[in-house]
Amino acid sequence: MFDKQIYVNRRLNLRKRIKSGLVVILGNTESPMNYRSNGYKFRQDSNFLYFFGLDLPNLVGIIDIEDGKDSLYGDDFDIDDIIWMGPQPSLSELGERVGVLSTAAQRDLQPTINRAIQQGRRVHILPPYRPDNVLLLERLLGVNQHMIRSYVSTDLIKAVVALRSIKEDCEILELERAAEVGYRMHVSAMQHARVGMLEQELAGMLEGISVSYGYMPSFPIILSQNGETLHNHDHSQLLTEGRLLLVDAGAENAMHYASDNTRTIPVGGKFTQRQKEIYNIVLAANNKAREMAKPGIPYLDVHRAAGRVLAEGLKALGLMKGDVDEAVANGAQALFQPHGLGHMMGLDVHDMEDLGENFVGYDDEVTRVNQFGTGSLRLGRRLQKGFVLTDEPGIYFIPALIEKWKSERINEAFICYDKLKDYYNFGGIRLEDDLLITDSGCRLIGKRIPITVEEVEATMAQGK
Ligand code: GLY
Repeated sequence: MFDKQIYVNRRLNLRKRIKSGLVVILGNTESPMNYRSNGYKFRQDSNFLYFFGLDLPNLVGIIDIEDGKDSLYGDDFDIDDIIWMGPQPSLSELGERVGVLSTAAQRDLQPTINRAIQQGRRVHILPPYRPDNVLLLERLLGVNQHMIRSYVSTDLIKAVVALRSIKEDCEILELERAAEVGYRMHVSAMQHARVGMLEQELAGMLEGISVSYGYMPSFPIILSQNGETLHNHDHSQLLTEGRLLLVDAGAENAMHYASDNTRTIPVGGKFTQRQKEIYNIVLAANNKAREMAKPGIPYLDVHRAAGRVLAEGLKALGLMKGDVDEAVANGAQALFQPHGLGHMMGLDVHDMEDLGENFVGYDDEVTRVNQFGTGSLRLGRRLQKGFVLTDEPGIYFIPALIEKWKSERINEAFICYDKLKDYYNFGGIRLEDDLLITDSGCRLIGKRIPITVEEVEATMAQGK
């Protein structure tokens, strides 16, 4: 937990952005796996962590804008809890740790909300994403669960996004710590990948590394020789000489800050000539994005510039044709990269996605583009100092997508469809770094995981 003043200041800053009413921040509850007492590892809500810092279930935080008071609702542990869980702090001790002096039992929450509603005060809530909290809000607000979305406060969403988008120094330190674990995960994958082992052996090792540093992976690990499937969670294949292995993995540290990196490595330790050609195009796009990312530039422009690098490289290889700018304007390179260049990262690996992608990644000035590929870009708006985001271009050969485009003659002026059959077993390459926007540019969060062909091959050779 950070120093209590951090949480006090964050709540004060939130107050400056909300005119009136009661802000209700719901913590998470335990989630059962297969029966009530066999739960998934507890993950606190990120907004609750941000404003109230406490990493325990069944808490609700209230920020009363008019009377200036912050309150914590929850129940003290009883002797049964202590028998199973060991000694626990009281609710008032917990509140004190994060600068909240007013604490009350869960049963007092409903009367507090009722009073605010009766007084005609606004009750600000964020979009719930867990069924337990949908049901809690249904009860607290007295509205049908299907109507909860219409009660969500856009003012509160915008205020939270404005605050959480700019990372504080203490958060950057945590992100660096998560990055250090992510580095170990990726270097271990490079050093331990062996022909004949199962993908799941490596995936398990990476997960174990993240757990050993305090929490768990920041998202389910993607580790597959079928890297053309963007979020491939199947780890059942044997590693086969000559194939590419895409590893998209990151750590969430004990303070719940994330890392998110992707590397693509050659099984057997050496890239083939064809793999190198595609790899270096993706690397050039990654580097282009890093060169361009700075305060004031829309990330949409960076996404497009990186897409141009992909199109140029694919044209030089004879896989695309025609005018590169026209090709990019028509979204032709999205056949090879059907996703956006990156997303915000912080307490969530896709930071604040629960609040709505368009609130996080777009604004009145930069709106989402309605085009295949670019339409999936999660962050398009102008970058600001303190943003943390991913830079993750890729090239994938997805046979079903290629066949679909070919049969529908999509972008046929720019795609050399006749050449692509030879790449149907290629897989996919993604290279992902995490960037912090600085005063005049950006820097990597953490040390760069080996990324050039030479660095990757040398790191793999160390494991032999
Ligand atoms: N790295 C996984 C994702 O961004 O969804």
